[in-house]
Amino acid sequence: MTLAMTLALTAAAPDLGTLETPLLVIALPSAPTLSGELQPADQAANGALARALARRDFRGGRDEVLFLAGGERGIQRLLLVGTGNASDRAGGLRRAAALAARQAGRLGVGQLAFFAGSLAANEVEAAGVGLVAGAWDFREMKSAAPADEQRAPLESAVVLAADAGARDAGIRGAQAIGAGHSLARRLGMLPGNVCTPDYLADTARDIAKRLGMSVTTLDRAAMQREKMGSFLAVAQGTTQDPKLIMLEYRRGPKDGKPVVLVGKGLCFDSGGISIKPAQGMEWMKFDMCGAAGVLGAMEAIGRLELPVNVVGLIGSTTNMPSGEAMKPGDVVQASNGKFIEIINTDAEGRLVLADVLSFAKRLSPEAVIDAATLTGACVIALGHTATGVMGTDDRLVQDVLDAGKRAGEPGWPLPLWDDYKDLIKSDVADIKNSGGRPAGTITAALFLKEFAEGYPWVHLDIAGTAYTESDLGTVPRGPTGVPVGTFVEFVRGRAR
Ligand code: BES
Ligand code: MN
Ligand code: ZN
Repeated sequence: MTLAMTLALTAAAPDLGTLETPLLVIALPSAPTLSGELQPADQAANGALARALARRDFRGGRDEVLFLAGGERGIQRLLLVGTGNASDRAGGLRRAAALAARQAGRLGVGQLAFFAGSLAANEVEAAGVGLVAGAWDFREMKSAAPADEQRAPLESAVVLAADAGARDAGIRGAQAIGAGHSLARRLGMLPGNVCTPDYLADTARDIAKRLGMSVTTLDRAAMQREKMGSFLAVAQGTTQDPKLIMLEYRRGPKDGKPVVLVGKGLCFDSGGISIKPAQGMEWMKFDMCGAAGVLGAMEAIGRLELPVNVVGLIGSTTNMPSGEAMKPGDVVQASNGKFIEIINTDAEGRLVLADVLSFAKRLSPEAVIDAATLTGACVIALGHTATGVMGTDDRLVQDVLDAGKRAGEPGWPLPLWDDYKDLIKSDVADIKNSGGRPAGTITAALFLKEFAEGYPWVHLDIAGTAYTESDLGTVPRGPTGVPVGTFVEFVRGRAR
């Protein structure tokens, strides 16, 4: 198991006069001014910092960057990054830090120091999370570049903050969440021929061993015994063994009800017999980002040693066409007894989750949150900006929305009204797995609701937010780390 190399993150007091760094990043808001603290940086730049602000070459706009040359020693280079008029300072710093770390990677400086004036613990954490995210890279399947083309990857970063308490708490949080994000992103990036259901199960076992958790897996035979006819219908098109993975972390009150985090883990989604167009089908290796999010969150929660009971549940398989594959018109029975008519074999995520959500009931959860790259319709509704959020308990929905906001992973609610249920009524079974195009995200969630019985439940449709097909500046093409931050913030909120 290769653990993704994450940035070595530390914090120190902001003494710019004695600082030795190849790159000092200075995050500044709109209409920046030169504070006294920044005088040594200005001296290192021979006054170019003060001039850049006075001439308004740099105005502190969101994502604005300006490089300045520094001294031969001490502060050797300066990078100004704008945070704009961010009302949420932590969010602005997270973004600026990610951008800066990516720039540092392009420069090949290897190390940086991050300065943004006085920082509270959550702001140190946000900056640290951003730095780790910006330094993240997936190189393990590329041969080394010729020596003269190589640039040193960003290997260490120090966040400068005056308050020692804020430094300690913030860096510890950032290291944990950063490790969770990086793990999830690596799993997302790994191709379907490497990141299989078995690979996800091995990863869960590795997390469990390192962080004091326990793992249980159900294979095809065990799922047959449990009568998980819905999950198995998807898995019948592949010879790979499907896996229901349960990762248990119990550091809360003994016998306290757990928070259960559920992830869709389709290691590849071809659509099955209702096959997808060839164009862009390779992106469907990311159809396991919900599962990656659960594993990343468990990694972070374990590192944070939060005093809570949390169980991660993953339903993992691959959706393939074959002579054995499920086909449109088939009727299957899920483990909660409900009959499902399969209209479209490409609506497979909900079939897998039907049995995983039914399974969750036996854990007597305090709350269940699932994350799934479930519908293309969600990308149409909310784009790549917000996760679709729906659930059976308004308080819980609000708590999850709040957690996503704190984490910089915004969600937005969609109505889970019964009026939409007509769209998934079946002539032959209790329910059908596709309601066609109208309200596609909502009908998918209403389908899941039929199996999320006996506990408060929230569903996150991360189809638009878990990975990006274009470079976002802060994140290159590929996985974003969503929903790790949302899960961790939610659980941390419960631990307080
Ligand atoms: N994994 C896809 C959803 C998806 C689409 C995620 C695009 C990310 C980007 C899911 O299994 C799927 O195929 N959903 C269908 C449902 C339809 C057949 C009712 C869809 O969205 O088209
Ligand atoms: Mn599909
Ligand atoms: Zn899918």
